[in-house]
Amino acid sequence: MEEKINILNEYLSNLKVENDNLYNLHFNVIGSSFMGLHKKLQEYYEHLALFYDDIAERIKMLNGYPITSLNKMEEISTIKSMKSMDFNFNQVLEILNNDFNFLVDYTKNLIKIFDDSQDYYTTNILNEILMYLEKELWMIKSTLK
Ligand SMILES: [Fe+2]
Repeated sequence: MEEKINILNEYLSNLKVENDNLYNLHFNVIGSSFMGLHKKLQEYYEHLALFYDDIAERIKMLNGYPITSLNKMEEISTIKSMKSMDFNFNQVLEILNNDFNFLVDYTKNLIKIFDDSQDYYTTNILNEILMYLEKELWMIKSTLK
């Protein structure tokens, strides 16, 4: 059980750092695509915040404690926080493509782990996250073509 909590806390930390990075892009995107991307990025971080809450509450249901320390989250997250600076259209799209690709693979790996231990509640949350990310990733990739 302890191992499952650790796995979910690491995942939670990645969602948190990614959410902060989405805020960064939302605030700092520049150029003629500002209006569209600014709005789209808000949609992303609002969704990720809900997923973040779902995972944290699942950790509670499994009798664990969700990490809430920002320092600790930054330390264990694979996704690292980005400097606050200007980002143009292509930079934003490349970052989204990289991060969402990573999160899709990461989520699939976790689904495998939790499916093997027949923890279907957790796999359901993860499947929901996967469905959202994969659909958005398709749109990101189509935009980059
Ligand atoms: Fe905003």
